Amino acid sequence: MEFMQKIWKQARSSKRRIVLAEGEERRNLIAAGKIIENNLADIILVGDTNAIKENAEALGVDIREATIADQHTYPHKEEMIKELYEIRKSKGMTLEKAAELVLDPLYFGTMMVKMGYGDGMVSGAIHTTGDLLRPGLQIIKTAPGVSAVSGFFVMVIPNCNYGENGTLIFADCAVNPKPTSEQLASIAITTAETAEKFDLDPKVAMLSFSTMGSASHEMVDNVRNAVDMAKSLRPDLAIDGELQLDAAIVPDVAELKAPNSPVAGKANVLIFPDLQTGNIGYKLVQRFARAEAIGPICQGFAKPINDLSRGCSPEDIVNVVAMTAVQAQKGI
Ligand code: ACO
Repeated sequence: MEFMQKIWKQARSSKRRIVLAEGEERRNLIAAGKIIENNLADIILVGDTNAIKENAEALGVDIREATIADQHTYPHKEEMIKELYEIRKSKGMTLEKAAELVLDPLYFGTMMVKMGYGDGMVSGAIHTTGDLLRPGLQIIKTAPGVSAVSGFFVMVIPNCNYGENGTLIFADCAVNPKPTSEQLASIAITTAETAEKFDLDPKVAMLSFSTMGSASHEMVDNVRNAVDMAKSLRPDLAIDGELQLDAAIVPDVAELKAPNSPVAGKANVLIFPDLQTGNIGYKLVQRFARAEAIGPICQGFAKPINDLSRGCSPEDIVNVVAMTAVQAQKGI
């Protein structure tokens, strides 16, 4: 079964409440209609009630089953302001500032998830990645034991035998510009756990321009230290490196360059050494191999919140909502 078909089936099996923080926006409304039609999640649309209803009607989208949460008139608004103040007062938050911030749909949506009024949030069709990540990092924060939130893509590559018949997970492609060894180790472990939650048996390659000491450079040392840390923290996981991309995925090259590695030649999870390589790497595969790139999906948050590309289609939003619902089911 195709990867996304499995995710849709899983999402339907126990529906979760997903907040669409950009509820008045056209693609979000079309996606909401499709999500309701396909029974993938219970949708909460954030925004002005009249604007949402009028826009949906103009688009011919039936959103009668969605809940509308207007941040200006929300019944739990006062409680939310106090909670936001409590969470951030040590960082200089005042009640006045908290009252202002809960009117921002992204802070409001994040607070809904934090306080349990929603199980996950998706936004980013009209906001930047940083706009979504900042309230997430400040309010939801990381899950226990995680030192860095990161962003992964599920890459589904047609006519390809690498990874799991052409399905691989790439990380970090979205969040940490220049990860330390500790952050890189955390990203590798979190991504392995993510793979398990999405039914892939993870074989994690930590990528570099060097394979097992073939080159010396401080950038290689950063990856090598991360491999050591990840292995000592989670000896039960198949994590190895440093590996060049070909050694990671091509069995013949692995045989030559890293014959004793349990991961080389069969990696299905690729950890990039920094955000430049991760972001460029997924786009290379997406464009040149005409791969489907599902994501970026955030991992490492205590509760799921996810970003959209500003160029996203309604179908992309539906898929990210389904992934978010599955993350919420699995407690990520
Ligand atoms: N994991 C966990 N916590 C983090 C992380 C992280 N990766 N990064 C920052 N934080 C925490 C900080 O410790 C801080 O916590 P505190 O306020 O409670 O002390 C809080 O988050 C805010 O940190 P700042 O340093 O103020 O936030 P910053 O301005 O650095 O922004 C951000 C963080 C938004 C993640 C930034 O690093 C960023 O913009 N990253 C790149 C995003 C991007 O542009 N991606 C590419 C596009 S996506 C795509 O193409 C798929």
